[in-house]
Amino acid sequence: MRILAVETSCDDTAVALLDGCRAIAERIYRQEIHSKHGGIVPELASRKHMQILPGLVEEVLRAGGVKSFEEIDAFAATTGPGLTGSLLVGLAWTKAAAWASGKPFLGINHLAAHLYIHYGGKRQVVFPAAALLVSGGHTSLFRMNSWEDILLLGSTRDDAAGEAFDKTAKLAGLGYPGGAALDLAADRGDPEKVSLPSPIADPSIPEFSFSGLKTAAKLLWEKGTDRNDLAASFRKTVANLLVSKLMYQCEKHKMKSVIAAGGVTANSLLRQILREECSEKNLNLFLPDREHATDNALMVGRAAAAILEKDPVASSPLSCNAFARWSGKTLSPIGCY
Ligand code: KG4
Ligand code: ZN
Repeated sequence: MRILAVETSCDDTAVALLDGCRAIAERIYRQEIHSKHGGIVPELASRKHMQILPGLVEEVLRAGGVKSFEEIDAFAATTGPGLTGSLLVGLAWTKAAAWASGKPFLGINHLAAHLYIHYGGKRQVVFPAAALLVSGGHTSLFRMNSWEDILLLGSTRDDAAGEAFDKTAKLAGLGYPGGAALDLAADRGDPEKVSLPSPIADPSIPEFSFSGLKTAAKLLWEKGTDRNDLAASFRKTVANLLVSKLMYQCEKHKMKSVIAAGGVTANSLLRQILREECSEKNLNLFLPDREHATDNALMVGRAAAAILEKDPVASSPLSCNAFARWSGKTLSPIGCY
């Protein structure tokens, strides 16, 4: 079963060719154009996807030894949540390719896709599992009873963790998007030299708040706090908040595994604390490699593979549309409404 998967929900243009869950070839074009604007400019992102996507597909097909769409069994694209204009580019392109070759099209939920990067790998996930999804747009905890039964436990009340990283990095002159740069600066700083608040610190509350933390970091920066020390304290505060709430849910629900996903799981301290805590508590940890923590098309392809494994004739209607926000209580990989 060959699947061609497309991801254009934000500012990364990504294409992957899979055989079931196995990656045959993939490419990611990370749009640099936004850094000089200090944030993502939605129209520029959509236009860049429009320009880059066709060439990226050709590259992936060539790398995978595929000569025509006839050799593809199914097409999948992210429908949301994300930037509507960006989503529409990948969605319209993929639907057209599926239609032209008479193959099924599947619309995929981006949040579920982040979790599905761990689907079909060498190690099987043992359920129940606690899932931490931390990206530039989302910060949520889920209870996964199986791959088909994913329940939201709680989310951020304001900013996403990645957004807080990016805003703090930007104010400290570390560029945009600055999560990775702040992570590097933090390696050179001392987290104990700077004290930051831990909003909604009670681990039993599966919700987060990062906007106050970001403001506290701003005040410290304006007072002349050392950049690296501030970065180190910020990183430690966020990582501890994320992991303490995750571990509380693991204990409460007698979880057997931890699934971590989303761009912020590229963070080195978060990765280290997750490894330590899961090893100590005998939990199976599923942590994506850094390239597949941030947006990619392999996760979209794996979500599609899972849908097709359950229902080999599954397909989404060609009328299916992009959506900007997700506000459900149960999460499904099928992202077509
Ligand atoms: O999952 P993703 O690629 O896009 C969304 O779906 O939002 O996540 C991007 C986010 C950005 O906010 C970026 O700054 C953050 O992930 N990020 C990091 C690191 N690498 C990427 N945050 C902290 N430390 C990192 N090393
Ligand atoms: Zn994402």
